[in-house]
Parts: sequence; C-alpha cells; structure tokens
Amino acid sequence: MRKHPFRLWRYRVLIPVPRDAEIISLNEGGTPLIRLKRIEKLVGVKSIYAKFEGANPTGSFKDRGMTVAVTMAKYLGFRNVICASTGNTASSMAAYAARGGLHAIIVLPEGKVARGKIAQSILHGATIIYVKGGFDSALKTVLAAYEAGLAYPLNSINPWRIEGQKTVAYEIVDEIGVPDWIIVPVGNAGNITAIWKGLKELRKFDLIDRLPRLAGVQASGASPLVEAFRENKEELKPVENPETIASAIRIGNPVNWRRALRAVRESNGVLLSVSDEEILAAQRKLARLEGIGVEPASAVTLAGFLRLVEEKIIERDDKVVFILTGHALKDPDIASSHNIRSFSANNRIDALKIIASLEGTSTFTN
Ligand SMILES: Cc1ncc(COP(=O)(O)O)c(C=O)c1O
Repeated sequence: MRKHPFRLWRYRVLIPVPRDAEIISLNEGGTPLIRLKRIEKLVGVKSIYAKFEGANPTGSFKDRGMTVAVTMAKYLGFRNVICASTGNTASSMAAYAARGGLHAIIVLPEGKVARGKIAQSILHGATIIYVKGGFDSALKTVLAAYEAGLAYPLNSINPWRIEGQKTVAYEIVDEIGVPDWIIVPVGNAGNITAIWKGLKELRKFDLIDRLPRLAGVQASGASPLVEAFRENKEELKPVENPETIASAIRIGNPVNWRRALRAVRESNGVLLSVSDEEILAAQRKLARLEGIGVEPASAVTLAGFLRLVEEKIIERDDKVVFILTGHALKDPDIASSHNIRSFSANNRIDALKIIASLEGTSTFTN
C-alpha cells in the first residue's frame, strides 16, 4: 500500500472519514513488530512477534482509535468529548482532544486507575470526574451524559474508534503476511472486534487469501466472555466486582461482547483467562528476556500463549503475533513491584566490591 507521512493514515482509503475532514493526528500507528527470538527458543515455537502498541504517542493502542474518533468529533461540531476509562482511553482522549482544541471530560472509577494514566490525563488538561464503583458504572455515567446532550462519547461503542483500531491488522499483514494466530488482551472487547473487522476487510478486498485465528485473553477475575465462550452461550453474565492487577482490563460487563464472541468463533479461535500470577510472570519474561516493557494487561498475551502451547492448541510451526497494548510506564507501581537484586553500599569501595562479586560480571578484582 502507498506510504503516507502519517503512519496510520496511510490506510485512509479504508477509513471512512469524509474527504474534507481535518485529520487530528499525533503520527500514531506504524508501531514496531518485534521478533521474540529468546521466547521462541524457550518455548519451541518457530515464529513469535510482538506488535508493540506501547510505542504509540500516548503509550497505548488507544491512539489508533482516538485519532479517528476525535477527527470525527471535531468534524461533527462537538466541543465536549467524554469517556469512561480504565485509564488508557482517558489519557489518549485527553491528548487528542488537546490537539484538536476540544474539551476532554473523563469519568474514572475512583482508586482503580494506574498512576501513569492519571498523570497523562492531568497533564493534557482534561477534566476528571471520579465515580464510585468500577468501570462499568463509569460507562453508565458517560451514556447518561450523551443522552442528555452534554458531550460526545468516545468509548469503543463509538464506531470511529473501531475504524482506527482495525489498522493494526493492516500493519501486521503488510509486514509479515497472515499469521496463524493473533493474541489479544480483552477488556471491553473493542480491540479484538476491531482487529477482526480489519482482517475481514482485507479478505473481502482479496488482499489476503486466509484469516488468522484469534485468541482473546482475559484476567481470571474479570472474564465474563471466557465463561460465555466455554459454555457456548449467546448471553453474557456480567461479573459484579471484577478484580485483577491488570487494571486496564478490570471490566465485568464488556460492551462489545457480542461482536467479540462472534469474531472469536468465526476465526475458529479461543477465549481463555489467566491468573494474576501468570500475568506478572509474563510481564517479567517480556521485560527481562526480550527487553519489552508492557503493562500487565498486555502481558496476558504471553501468559495465554504459554497455556495454548501447553494445551497443544498452538503448534510449533505456527506464526504468532501478540498485541502488546500498553507501555510498562503506564503502571509504574506494578512495574516497580517485581523482584530485584539490590544492595546498599556505604562508600565507593564497598560498591565496587559488590559489583565485583556479582556472578558473570567483569574481571575486576579487589
Ligand atoms: C493496555 C490495555 N490492554 C487491553 C485493553 C482492552 O482493550 P478492549 O477494552 O478494547 O478489549 C485495554 C483497555 O483499556 C488497555 O488499556
């Protein structure tokens, strides 16, 4: 496809915004697709790639949807945009609203949003309203504000978000063709829905001749979609009080559940859940084996992948892509909670002695 100076917007022909719309962009998209050689070796699967969405301008995949949604909000003449958020939608909307000269109103579940995301929202000048209850309750507030005509909602119920987020599928296919599996963290289930939409469009236009299988991964304390999938149900039983350290996907009643369930089933894929312990171990592995720092919600991909390999659902010749949705610095408290080797030195000699005693370090003596 033709290259465009705006990385995501080079796919403009497949993003149905009006021709005369002013594009509000921070040059999002075009994120690195990184081969995970050490994890390949460790697990014995031939080709594993990470699509590092943490490299987007505000540090998460949300920027893909937000550039389109804020462009359209402005085009449609709205001055106030609003969203409920576990954090990343908020920080992304705050930045893009600032860029477009719109007022960002953010509804957050009090005490449940990671520090980095709140800091970004403050920095970009959003108005923040903290509400009691979880994300699901915050979303109800947003929908009520929309019905009252107070602001334009930019959660993933907004179809423009999906139009932007689908571009990650285009980028993957452009770079490595069609993989066998794409593994996606699932919270409100907008991203997995968007990725499937993008893939199906490529198929419809004969740009690809087959589709990958999707694996959606939830945290076990917030996994209503996994339950519906396992029991082969057409209804969703919301989780009342979802709990997981992966705060970005701490969602009990995902709005896009129907479309996400359909996407996974159509792709002959799977939905599975992983524990907080597995998430933290996977976050460490990505960081320490591959040098890729992600927030816990993104690490569910590796945790889920390890399960699927163990269950022989993913096979050794498969080509697999993880969607690493957010940067490690989004949640500095979790990032710095991992075990470290640390020492206290009284003086420089002491420090050098410690360094010299470290296993596998230099030839320094004394
Ligand atoms: C880092 C991260 N990963 C995954 C998700 C889940 O995406 P979705 O709600 O589209 O399923 C979110 C949503 O906030 C997120 O911030």
